[in-house]
Amino acid sequence: MGWLKVFLLLVGLANCRRPRTTPAVPTVTALIGQGVMIPCSIPHRPTGLNESRIYWQASNPRSKKPHEDMVLLVYNRGKMENNLRTALYMNRTRLFPGQLHDGNFSLYIDPVKIEDDRAKVIVRYEKNDFKPLCPTYIRVTARNSKPAVHSSCTQGAGLVEVTCATQGGFPEPTFSWRIQNHTVLRPQEMTRTMERDPHSGTFSADLTVQLNASEGQTTTCLVTNPVLQETVSTSITIQSCKVDPQVNTASWLVPVALLVALVFVFLVALGAYRYGYGERSDVRSADSAQELWQRD
Ligand SMILES: *[C@@H]1O[C@H](CO)[C@@H](O)[C@H](O)[C@H]1NC(C)=O
Ligand SMILES: *[C@@H]1O[C@H](CO)[C@@H](O)[C@H](O)[C@H]1NC(C)=O
Ligand SMILES: *[C@@H]1O[C@H](CO)[C@@H](O)[C@H](O)[C@H]1NC(C)=O
Ligand SMILES: *[C@@H]1O[C@H](CO)[C@@H](O)[C@H](O)[C@H]1NC(C)=O
Ligand SMILES: *[C@@H]1O[C@H](CO)[C@@H](O)[C@H](O)[C@H]1NC(C)=O
Repeated sequence: MGWLKVFLLLVGLANCRRPRTTPAVPTVTALIGQGVMIPCSIPHRPTGLNESRIYWQASNPRSKKPHEDMVLLVYNRGKMENNLRTALYMNRTRLFPGQLHDGNFSLYIDPVKIEDDRAKVIVRYEKNDFKPLCPTYIRVTARNSKPAVHSSCTQGAGLVEVTCATQGGFPEPTFSWRIQNHTVLRPQEMTRTMERDPHSGTFSADLTVQLNASEGQTTTCLVTNPVLQETVSTSITIQSCKVDPQVNTASWLVPVALLVALVFVFLVALGAYRYGYGERSDVRSADSAQELWQRD
């Protein structure tokens, strides 16, 4: 293990003097849980592979040790040295030994994990002085589930609260809304929760907005994966509120209101009579009228 670290350090130092203009590095898109090919082909058929070494390495600015290269696979004098792999890539990388002699140094990573996101993979081959070959970025993604959409009821035209929930996506999804077939430009957002699954690292997102939609209109929540540029959507029809509780309320509310009004009128009349009587007698009776008022 020691010699490998020294080698990687030396290669790293030599690598510091990079030319100013570097050609664009290709990116492969990898779905979490599936396999991805990191393609690498050298233009000539390599000779003396049984006497050479090939290293597949990756660096990742998001890893815990961003300046340390990770070892994805080592081919050393005719065989794989699997135990040299970084723990993150243990049991997850393989190549195609039958194709090495054709100059096909492609590497297969399976299954892809969220930690692979933004890794830059390179291949170092002894016969080309370990200069980095085939630099490739990995962009990890995961599809969003078809959203679940619910709305509150509405009476006629007005604002309706609509909730849209989706799971399993990576990176964070973006939301958009449609009423009938018109895109809602700026929906009034009420709440937004975005949670990460501790195991897979994917997002569960839950968004509630207020939309100016009326009963019978079709409302659509669209969830887009920004890497795949893929959109999943669900449409619902805005429902009206059920009206039966209002009828029940009205049937007992009227007699109760009448009764309360009658009692009030009676008390006012009684108070006025007592006050008027007291005025003609002394101040103390006025006080007792006041007391009676308060007691009522
Ligand atoms: C390389 O090594 C493998 C096994 O170690 C052997 O089968 C093969 O014949 C060798 N090839 C050459 C060209 O020496
Ligand atoms: C790799 O696979 C071997 C055998 O299948 C297993 O014993 C080992 O625990 C695995 N290692 C990791 C890091 O998954
Ligand atoms: C390299 O080998 C893999 C696995 O067989 C294959 O899928 C890929 O197309 C090959 N690449 C080239 C350039 O031949
Ligand atoms: C909305 O969709 C309906 C049918 O789905 C279509 O007839 C109508 O022309 C569309 N309106 C707009 C503004 O796109
Ligand atoms: C909803 O839209 C209608 C016209 O489409 C408009 O008259 C009404 O004022 C809007 N309501 C709200 C609360 O924005």
